[in-house]
Amino acid sequence: MCGIVAYIGAKDAYPILLKGLHRLEYRGYDSAGIALIDNAEIHVHKKAGKVKNLERFVNGSESGSTIGIGHTRWATHGLPNDLNAHPHLSANGSLVMIHNGIIENYGSLKQDLINRGYSFESDTDTEVFITFIEDIQKEGNHPLEDAFRIALTKVIGAYAVVIMSTKEPRKLVAARKGSPLVLGLGEGEFFLASDATPIVEYTNEVIYLKDEEILIINDDHYEIKNLDDVAQSPYIETLDIELETLEKGGYKHFMLKEIFEQPNSIRDCMRGRLNVDTGELVLGGIREYANALANAERIVIVACGTSWHAGLVAEYLFEDLCRIPVEVEYASEFRYRNPVINEGDIVIAISQSGETADTLAAIELAKNKGAIVLGVVNTVGSSIARNSYEGAYLHAGPEIGVASTKAFTAQLTVLTMIALRLAAKKGTITDTKYHELLVELDSIPDKVALALKLNDKIETISDLFKEAQNFLYLGRGYNFPVALEGALKLKEISYVHAEGYPAAEMKHGPIALIDEKMPVVVIATRDSSYDKVVSNIQEVKARKGVIIAIVTEGDELIPTMADFTIEIPATHDYLMPLLSVIPLQLMSYHMAIMRGCNVDQPRNLAKSVTVE
Ligand code: G6P
Repeated sequence: MCGIVAYIGAKDAYPILLKGLHRLEYRGYDSAGIALIDNAEIHVHKKAGKVKNLERFVNGSESGSTIGIGHTRWATHGLPNDLNAHPHLSANGSLVMIHNGIIENYGSLKQDLINRGYSFESDTDTEVFITFIEDIQKEGNHPLEDAFRIALTKVIGAYAVVIMSTKEPRKLVAARKGSPLVLGLGEGEFFLASDATPIVEYTNEVIYLKDEEILIINDDHYEIKNLDDVAQSPYIETLDIELETLEKGGYKHFMLKEIFEQPNSIRDCMRGRLNVDTGELVLGGIREYANALANAERIVIVACGTSWHAGLVAEYLFEDLCRIPVEVEYASEFRYRNPVINEGDIVIAISQSGETADTLAAIELAKNKGAIVLGVVNTVGSSIARNSYEGAYLHAGPEIGVASTKAFTAQLTVLTMIALRLAAKKGTITDTKYHELLVELDSIPDKVALALKLNDKIETISDLFKEAQNFLYLGRGYNFPVALEGALKLKEISYVHAEGYPAAEMKHGPIALIDEKMPVVVIATRDSSYDKVVSNIQEVKARKGVIIAIVTEGDELIPTMADFTIEIPATHDYLMPLLSVIPLQLMSYHMAIMRGCNVDQPRNLAKSVTVE
């Protein structure tokens, strides 16, 4: 979390930095700040709150500087106030830093610096980090990049940092470890950012810095070195991001745009991979390890948040279709509990951002234990994508709304394709069923478009429940992870307490909560669990709970029991989550709007969680 951006060139830096910060705001919005160098003087402006607060504060007072750095913060050390906002100056004001990450040994470094006469204005690890560099520079009379390199060998933790200095006002130095940093190569100008979104409108040539690489930009040339001061040969990549995908395109919020994009994003995800006529399913990113996957005795899925829910659906798919045992792990638990991983086990990491710190650490652990790591990732060139052996991209396009929507359905689509491909290779599926499922998968974008037509009805239902304080979401089988996802969506953007539960487990606890005030969303589509779910609905009704049921179109029974029914198109059990999640996404969106919440930037959350 935290977004960083920097510019050096001939243009006015302030508007470039500001626009970049708006693009990166999904990474954190506790505070925003910029620093510019003009006539060898550093100007720092920083403000608690969103980037627009900063913009109001600067109020057009900055123009003319052609070098600068900017930061949007998700607080880790210290309150989200003006003082703790980045950029941070060193003690004598000659250096200024922006930082994404956490310096774990900042406490001891700080104490040492205090003992030697330094004092600090903020509570941040970043102010300690930059002052530490100033101290090294002074003590050894080192040039900036040498002092920086020495400091990097002594700090413990994660960082993507950029530094400017009054003594060398046409220089930027930067480095990364654990947090992302991308360098954009323009004509006589350079851009640095946490991801490519602030860069794409200026250049499509980028370099993704690797861990423990140091970048030195000296006016119009750059070099990359490692921590041993040895020059590295960078790999220049060409970006493939359409600028329009980063804008709201007529929708009020990114979340709504992304919900409505799903017919297309699912289609994009299947494009060039699935051919119903020939029965081909090509996953170009999984070739070398395709046999290892087919022969695996076990698959472990690691992920966080919504991606973890996609992993739960995948567990059902892989076990059912491929007959391979699957475990789905929260990456944050997996990485700290000495898990049993055997040589040849397949670990699949699922991540929208490709930067989630816990997921990244989980795959490192898995690799060290001899597992084969495959990534199912949306962001091209992200750390998880690059640190996986092979994998499949989602191709869902940039997801900006903090609540994940189109990435979830794209994850389900990719995981279904992997499962079908694998089942065909292993012979655990009949030809007829394989073809039926290909045809059905191919029809999903059109069915999602039909489900989206329910928007008005869902808005009306949401209005009736906007004051409710608690919700229960129930589902069985493939719809159980969808119940978890529906509850998560409501919690994260509407701040309403919601719990997802396997419908049958309700009687072991949550049933005690049910009264006439408790809305219960039941996903009761026509699948193998249908009759059982009908019984669960009756159990809720017997306790006077209010039922909002998601049913398959044409269902005549459940509408006689439920208070409200939402009919979605029919599909196979395996694919139902791709449809049943749509009304739940829409309901959380409308409830959040009606409750006056900021749906794209919910409080306390960030889209890319690069701290553990
Ligand atoms: C954050 C986001 C969630 C996301 C989770 C995992 O909590 O707010 O929307 O599901 O991180 O992120 P990833 O990028 O790894 O899918």
